[in-house]
Amino acid sequence: MQNEPKKEITGTYYVQDRKSLQELERLTIQGQMMTREMGGLLPEQEDPSRFQRVLDIACGPGEWIIEMARTYPHMTLIGVDISSSMIEYAREQARVQHVDDRVEFLVMDALLILEFPAVFFDLVNLRCCVGFMRTWDWPKMISEMRRVTRSGGIVRVADAEAEAGHTRNACPALTQFSTLFCQALYEAGHLFEAVPSGLTAHLVPLLQRHGCRNVQTRTSPMIYQAGEPSGEAFYRDMKRAFQTLRPFILKWSGKPQKDEYESLCQQALEEIQGSDFYNTWNMHTAWGIK
Ligand SMILES: C[S@@+](CC[C@H](N)C(=O)[O-])C[C@H]1O[C@@H](n2cnc3c(N)ncnc32)[C@H](O)[C@@H]1O
Repeated sequence: MQNEPKKEITGTYYVQDRKSLQELERLTIQGQMMTREMGGLLPEQEDPSRFQRVLDIACGPGEWIIEMARTYPHMTLIGVDISSSMIEYAREQARVQHVDDRVEFLVMDALLILEFPAVFFDLVNLRCCVGFMRTWDWPKMISEMRRVTRSGGIVRVADAEAEAGHTRNACPALTQFSTLFCQALYEAGHLFEAVPSGLTAHLVPLLQRHGCRNVQTRTSPMIYQAGEPSGEAFYRDMKRAFQTLRPFILKWSGKPQKDEYESLCQQALEEIQGSDFYNTWNMHTAWGIK
C-alpha cells in the first residue's frame, strides 16, 4: 500500500499538534482504559473470528488494533491515522509485540478518501472520532467505510459521550470542564447538538440513513473509581487531556481566560484524586451490515 504522507495540512482534530507527546501518552492510556472498561475489543460481536481483514480508521497509537492482532492470530489488519508520530509509534509497538507481520500502519487523512480497494475488509472500525469528525463529514465517511467493506461485512463506530462522565459525589470543577468541552465541540461542528450525547445519539440514524442494514447499538458504562486501577488511569488521562485540549477549549467555548482554565483544571484534578471519587462514562457502539 502507498504510505507517503500527503503534505501536512491543518487538520480538524481537536489537538492540532500532531507530534504532541502528551497526546500520544493520553491516547495510549485512554485506549487501554476503554478496551478494558468496554469489556473487550469487540464485546458486541457474536463471532469475531469470522473477520479476516480488519481496518481501524484513526487508530492513534495502535492499542486496539495491536491487541486485535494478538487476540486473533488469523487476522490481517491495517491501521490508518493522520499523524505520522502516532503511526511511527504504533509500528514500533507492533514490532515489540511481534505482530508486525500481520498489522500494517499507514499515514492517511481519512476525511479525504480511504485509499483501499472496494469490498476489501470484513470489519471497518472507527473508535473515538468525535475529535476530528464534523457533523457534515459523516455521509462521506460512512459511504467510504461501506465502499471498502465486503458485502455482509461490518461497519462499526464507537464513541464516548462528550463529557468527562457522571460523578456520584460533587465534582463542580470536573462538571464545569465537561460543560465547556461539550460547548466547544458543538461550536466547532463536531456535535449535532450541544449536549453530551450530541454525537452518540445520532450514530444509529447516521448508519441507517447512509446504507447500513440491521443497525444495532450497545452502551457500555465505563466506571472510574478511587482506589482502583481505573481511577488512577482516569486521573492520568484527564491530566493530559486538560493540557492537550486547552487551545481547543479556549478557542471554541468562548468562556474562561487561560488563568481561569488552569485553576479549573487544577481543581478538577483534586476532585478526581478525592478518596470518594466515582465516575461513570458511557461508551456507545453502533454497527451495521454492508
Ligand atoms: C481520540 S484518538 C482515537 C484513537 C483510537 N481510535 C482509539 O480509539 O483509541 C483520534 C485519532 O484521530 C486521528 N485523526 C485526526 N484527524 C484524522 C484524519 N483526518 N484522518 C485520520 N486520522 C485522524 C488523530 O491523530 C488521533 O490519533
